[in-house]
Amino acid sequence: MALSKNNLKEYRENAKLNLKISDVAATSFVTLYCHAIESQSNDPILNDPKAVEITNELNKILSNSENKLYQDLVNGKLKKELVTHIAIRARQYDRYVNDFLKDSPEGVVVNIGCGLDSRFLRIDNGKVIFYDLDLPEVIEIKKQFFEENDRYHFISSSVLDHEWMSMVAEHEGPFLFVAEGVFMYLNQEDVQSLILTLQSEFPGSELVCEVFNSLWLKEPLRSIMNFKLQRQLHLGKDAIFNFGIRDSKEMETWNTGIEFLDDWSYFDSDEEKLGWIKIFGWIEFIRKTQWTVHYKLN
Ligand SMILES: C[S@@+](CC[C@H](N)C(=O)[O-])C[C@H]1O[C@@H](n2cnc3c(N)ncnc32)[C@H](O)[C@@H]1O
Repeated sequence: MALSKNNLKEYRENAKLNLKISDVAATSFVTLYCHAIESQSNDPILNDPKAVEITNELNKILSNSENKLYQDLVNGKLKKELVTHIAIRARQYDRYVNDFLKDSPEGVVVNIGCGLDSRFLRIDNGKVIFYDLDLPEVIEIKKQFFEENDRYHFISSSVLDHEWMSMVAEHEGPFLFVAEGVFMYLNQEDVQSLILTLQSEFPGSELVCEVFNSLWLKEPLRSIMNFKLQRQLHLGKDAIFNFGIRDSKEMETWNTGIEFLDDWSYFDSDEEKLGWIKIFGWIEFIRKTQWTVHYKLN
């Protein structure tokens, strides 16, 4: 249940407990604050009033923390480029979901590693069945701000604990799985096993997921990336990238029936706020440092 004023007070008083989340779970605060900052900017890329509401509440809690990441978030010290990238990405994933719902208005969407994102509120067509899945510590926070209903549900579980699938499989589908900014934190074998299980449990489903370029997982590029995550963004030491692919079609080689549909990179966006950085978009290695792939799991 979303919080009443009294409950919210109690939540704030207990906030120290809730701040003790894992480094990977804390990355959900970063994307949330990016959505909120962008939503309050001129000509916003993303309109996400719920993110603004949540960050206003979280500020009251996080401002008591000495954690550098939380201090940066509360003080709005996130790089403009990061805010723009995260907002463009969220808008693009909303588009993927909307496109899916155009053909299948009563379809089932599972937002894997949903964080504190409010995609359901942004895309709800009145018919979709929508699951927000994340680690229990994140869902616990999410429950303070969002209400479940007969079409909107939380799954409080690691995506790697495949038991969650039985709950979703009760529906007829069709199914769309989206994983925005998630798989890079997992291991290669885990991502592979997850996708193969999705394929066998939900034949005909679609998967949209962000991937990292595995070239960047080799030294010295790996150290540069981890430096960026930990020293510049102040993410904890466990929030590191582990999984990547080299090419958009790579997952097709994992099993017959996995069919590449399309891909998307930030550089494909005509968003003016991207600014001068767009000029590097023609360099494949940069265009595909971190990008999105769309598959059908036949
Ligand atoms: C960078 S955040 C992205 C959140 C959201 N998708 C967005 O774009 O705003 C990464 C999210 O992945 C979640 N995550 C990481 N590992 C996970 C796992 N094994 N199972 C479920 N969620 C996981 C984290 O808890 C976090 O909420």
